[in-house]
Amino acid sequence: MDKHLFANSILNWYAKNKRDLPWRHTKDPYKIWLSEIILQQTRVKQGLPYYQKFVETYPLVQDLASADEQNVLRLWQGLGYYSRARNLHTAAKFVHHERGGVFPESYQELLKMKGVGDYTASAIASFAYNEKVAVVDGNVFRVLARVFGIDTDIASHKGAKEFGALAKSLLPDEHTDAYNQGIMEFGALQCTPQKPDCMYCPLQTHCVAYAQGKQKELPVKIKK
Ligand code: ADE
Repeated sequence: MDKHLFANSILNWYAKNKRDLPWRHTKDPYKIWLSEIILQQTRVKQGLPYYQKFVETYPLVQDLASADEQNVLRLWQGLGYYSRARNLHTAAKFVHHERGGVFPESYQELLKMKGVGDYTASAIASFAYNEKVAVVDGNVFRVLARVFGIDTDIASHKGAKEFGALAKSLLPDEHTDAYNQGIMEFGALQCTPQKPDCMYCPLQTHCVAYAQGKQKELPVKIKK
């Protein structure tokens, strides 16, 4: 389907259907980083109170950098995957001590932070700085695999390259931040893994998976 139509459909859908989440009201890269680290392997409902606690206890990256590690881990209690909290603290100290408190300002610079990989760096670069990068998480893989009917294994190197290139080619010229939030939200709420809401989907008439009845088979993910 036409790339402009795809992006516009996502942007329109997002404007009507987005959840009101606190990290969507800020351009502060520190707060967006906190939200993205907390939301890795964690549902929004579970992560939300932790985000609030972290932002209240450590409003600035300097506050987190100066905190006692035990206190950071205590605040993290219940979220699991404690390496995330330790990396968070390490990266805050890096920003504070090595960068004079200036948060990294591009995808490339963000990758230098401990615990920040391709997904998180692109999310912060897009949401905080409007950098024209594609944010590709599990939701995005699913939406693209279904709409465009791609059966390449999303866990393979080939899949990462193919979906990454497609995601990049679909980026609109403007509002890439809302578009990236939008396609993830579309995957989380509309094009869901088990029961996608195809009856009320704005992309229904363009969707290869819908036309072929293959929603359940896409995306393909081969377990290693
Ligand atoms: N999960 C990961 N990042 C998210 C975001 N920015 N909004 C909602 N859910 C998310």
